Amino acid sequence: MIGVFDSGIGGLTVVKALKRNLPNYDIIYFGDTARTPYGTKSPETVVRYAIEDAEILLQKGAQMLVVACNTASSVATDTLEERFDVPIFEVISPAVNMAVSDPKRTRVGIIGTRATVNSGVYVDKIKAIRPEMKVYSEPCPLLVPLVEEGWLKKGETRKIVKKYLHPLKLKQIDVLILGCTHYPLLKEIIQVKIGKRVKIIDSSEALSDAVTSFLHHNSDTESRLTKGGTCQFYVSDVTEQFQKIAKTILKTAVTLEHIKL
Ligand code: DGL
Repeated sequence: MIGVFDSGIGGLTVVKALKRNLPNYDIIYFGDTARTPYGTKSPETVVRYAIEDAEILLQKGAQMLVVACNTASSVATDTLEERFDVPIFEVISPAVNMAVSDPKRTRVGIIGTRATVNSGVYVDKIKAIRPEMKVYSEPCPLLVPLVEEGWLKKGETRKIVKKYLHPLKLKQIDVLILGCTHYPLLKEIIQVKIGKRVKIIDSSEALSDAVTSFLHHNSDTESRLTKGGTCQFYVSDVTEQFQKIAKTILKTAVTLEHIKL
């Protein structure tokens, strides 16, 4: 099974992208809905939660781990790689690789939670590959609650997106990384507000492509994964909101199983 975890529901955007690329593989998802959000918490707390999330998935039989949460990927990847002896995919590197791949694009914008932006991980990874690139980051803390409220098309959401993107527009970015699980749901509004000529990189799709390519090239891991096309969803708190948003993202109702932390 491919184990995917997130701070809550947003990681379902990654499940959706994985299912599109790898429909036959079994997926097991853990959303830490009891302790979400991670984006406002300290790195120490997020690392502790990420270890527990990974342990839950491995105990349930996951043979590899996909960290769907940008915040957890930003601060906990090194610790997870030290602790667990399975292939681990984080969401930052695939998006960075995509952002730097076009030599004509030289000005990158990154939007994410405060914890992700404060970690500086996106900036460091981009600069390590293309030091000449200009990189600008903006935390967008209000976007997660707006998505969770289902305010995907409201005027208020458009206004807030516009305000957050304004500094990046002034910097004339030509590529924008959506560095948070929830932002793909606002992609259309973001594209309108940032302008058509800016290439938007959806980190969930970039991650799914990286996992797919890894499996094509690593038959040892690939052959160990079970392939029944199933999807199991575990959460640390069962809420109506999760069911609602899961339906918005996956376009189908899901059955949630509760895990007491
Ligand atoms: N999943 C988080 C991320 O991608 C967003 C929600 C949260 O703050 O927990 O950064």
